[in-house]
Amino acid sequence: MKNIETFTVDTKQQGAEKLVELISNELKANRLQVFGLATGSTMEPVYDQLVASDLDFSQVTAFNLDEYIGIPADHPNSYAYYMNERLFSKKPFKKTFIENGMAEDLDEECVRYETLLKENPLDVQLLGIGENGHIAFNEPGTSPESVTHVVELTESTIAVNSQYFTEDETMPVTALTMGISSIMQAKKLVVAAFGENKRAALEKLFAGEVSAEWPVTFLLKHSDVTIITDLKF
Ligand code: GLP
Repeated sequence: MKNIETFTVDTKQQGAEKLVELISNELKANRLQVFGLATGSTMEPVYDQLVASDLDFSQVTAFNLDEYIGIPADHPNSYAYYMNERLFSKKPFKKTFIENGMAEDLDEECVRYETLLKENPLDVQLLGIGENGHIAFNEPGTSPESVTHVVELTESTIAVNSQYFTEDETMPVTALTMGISSIMQAKKLVVAAFGENKRAALEKLFAGEVSAEWPVTFLLKHSDVTIITDLKF
């Protein structure tokens, strides 16, 4: 596929190294003013390595893909908390943005976020993939025209992500997420997928057919996608 470049690595750690190399190239070539970031376990070694690197993000604005609704930024399971803990408190950025899942008017919050994205077009967007093929929190069935919106998480996503919540915590079942269209506006997409539980989603992508049932396949319509995976096909 001419629009998709794939790097196959042996381990998640090596994958993270490759990803950091790509980011470093973009930064040094002055092509990274606005950086779209992702959360999840996939990105943990990436942020560890970015923190350990000498890369300077002080002139870079960051946007995160998604956030749970109803848990505050200081809750350990919020994506705001994840980003502060793992990256922002250790590597200074010019500015960082994430959807406010505590906003009183969630629709207004979506408009606000999408407007910010329009004003700050994404240069590079990092993406993980959900087991069901979701990107950010765009679950199966999401329209390719979607912009930042409220989502109801699927059973599959709740089952996977609930492992991060303790027994006495209730996992949110709704979230705010950039839409497929918001993500597709980024000049460059860098996707990381490690482990067997991501095989089905990547298989669908490599099969080359776009289907809303597997949101990751919308990436087939983007002109510059890099995939880093430890899966061999
Ligand atoms: C979550 C996030 C996604 C992330 C995905 C994969 O649901 N909303 O942005 O890509 O899960 O997570 P992990 O990297 O933990 O497999």
